[in-house]
Amino acid sequence: MRILAIETSCDETAIAIADFFGGKNKPQIKVLSNMVSSQVALHAKFGGVVPNLAKREHQRNLVPLLLSAFQKAGLLNSKIKNQKSKLQSKIQNVEKILEREPELLKRFKKYVLPLSKPKIDAIAVTYGPGLAPALWVGINFVKALAHWWNVPLIPMNHMEGHLFSAFLQKEEKNSKFKILNSKFPALTLLASGGHTELILMKGCGKYKIIGETLDDAAGEAFDKAARLLGLGYPGGPAIAALAAKIQNAKFKSQNYNSKFKIRFPRPMLNSKDYNFSFSGLKTAVLYFLRDHPSIAKSKTGRAAVAKEFQDAVVEVLVAKTIRAAKACKVKTILLGGGVAANRLLREKLQDAVRENLPHVSCFMPQASLTGDNALMIALAAYVSGKKKTPTAVGAEANLRLG
Ligand code: KG4
Ligand code: ZN
Repeated sequence: MRILAIETSCDETAIAIADFFGGKNKPQIKVLSNMVSSQVALHAKFGGVVPNLAKREHQRNLVPLLLSAFQKAGLLNSKIKNQKSKLQSKIQNVEKILEREPELLKRFKKYVLPLSKPKIDAIAVTYGPGLAPALWVGINFVKALAHWWNVPLIPMNHMEGHLFSAFLQKEEKNSKFKILNSKFPALTLLASGGHTELILMKGCGKYKIIGETLDDAAGEAFDKAARLLGLGYPGGPAIAALAAKIQNAKFKSQNYNSKFKIRFPRPMLNSKDYNFSFSGLKTAVLYFLRDHPSIAKSKTGRAAVAKEFQDAVVEVLVAKTIRAAKACKVKTILLGGGVAANRLLREKLQDAVRENLPHVSCFMPQASLTGDNALMIALAAYVSGKKKTPTAVGAEANLRLG
C-alpha cells in the first residue's frame, strides 16, 4: 500500500510518500520521500507561531513540496494533454474545495492539474490537534487531490503520529527505515509544544490518556522560559544548548550551583496521579531572574538557570513515566513529540528504564523525526487509520486520543 501523507498542523509543511508491506501487526516500510519545509525562522521574529502566517506559508509551500516529493519518489509523471477540457466539472469541484485558499488554488491549477495520476493508494492527512487555520489548508489540499485523482483519504490524529514516530528506526547498514515491533501494553510519553500526555496503549488504536498537563505543555514551558532568558523561538533547543554550556570545563570550575544556589520546584512530582503542571516552573524562573539581577545579567548565571529549569522538567517527566509504567505493568515505553529531541530527557529516561524496569523496551524516535513530519502520519495511517469520504473530514483543533 502506497500512502501519500500531508502534515500542516503547526509551523512545518511536511509531505511523505511511503510503501508499506506485511500485515498491520508486523509492518515494513520503504520510504520514497520524506520532506519538511520549516517556517520556524519566520515565526521566530514574532517569538512564537502566528496562525495566519502559518496558513499563508502552507498555501505557498504545499504544491512545490508535493512536486519535490513526487520527483524524489520517481512519481513525477509526464503531463497529460487535453485533460482539462474533459474534466471541466471536476475542475469546478477543485475550485470549490480550495475557494478559501486562493493562492493554493492558483498553484494547484498550474502545477497539479496537468500531472497524470500518480500510483498512490491513499492520502493521509493530519486533521487535529493543531492550529485550525493551518490544519484546514492541509485538509482542503488533500480533499482537492483526493477528488482529482479519485483516491481515498485517511484522516489522522497528529499525536498518534508522534506516538508512531518512536517505531521508526534507521537500519545502521543502509540507513533505510525499519519499523520496530512493540509488545503491549505500552506507555507513551508525548511531550510537544501543545501537549504533555501519558498514554496507555493496549494495542494499536487502543489508547487511554492516563495523565496530562493541567496547564502548560512541556515544550510550551521551554518556550516561555527561553523567552524569559532572552533566547529565541523555539525555546527547547535554545535552553538545551545554553544548559549544555554548564557542562564545559570553564563553567564547571566556577562551581556554578553552589555559587548561585538555584533550585526550582519539581511540580506534581509526588502527586498520586499522572498529571503534570509546568506553568509554576516558568513563574519560578521569572521570579528568580527578577530577584537576582546580577545572575540574570551574567551568561554563566543564565546558563545555570537554563540547566536547573531543564533538570526540573526532565526529572518530573521521567519520574512520572516510570511510576505509571510500573503501575500499568507495561512491556514497552515510547517517547514522542518535539521535546523528545531533548538529549537529557532521552538519556535520563533510558537510564531510568534500564535501572527500574530492565525487561521493558524503550523506543525513541530518530532525532530527525522528533519534530513534526509526515512520515509518522503515513505510518500511523497504515497501522491504525481508517479511510473516510472527503466530505466527512474536517479540522478538529482540540482533537484528543482515545
Ligand atoms: O511536536 P512539535 O514539533 O510541535 C508540536 O506539535 O507542538 O514540538 C515543538 C516543541 C516546542 O515547544 C519546542 O521548544 C520543543 O518541542 N522542543 C524541545 C527541543 N526541541 C524542540 N524541547 C526541549 N528540548 C529540545 N531539544
Ligand atoms: Zn507535533
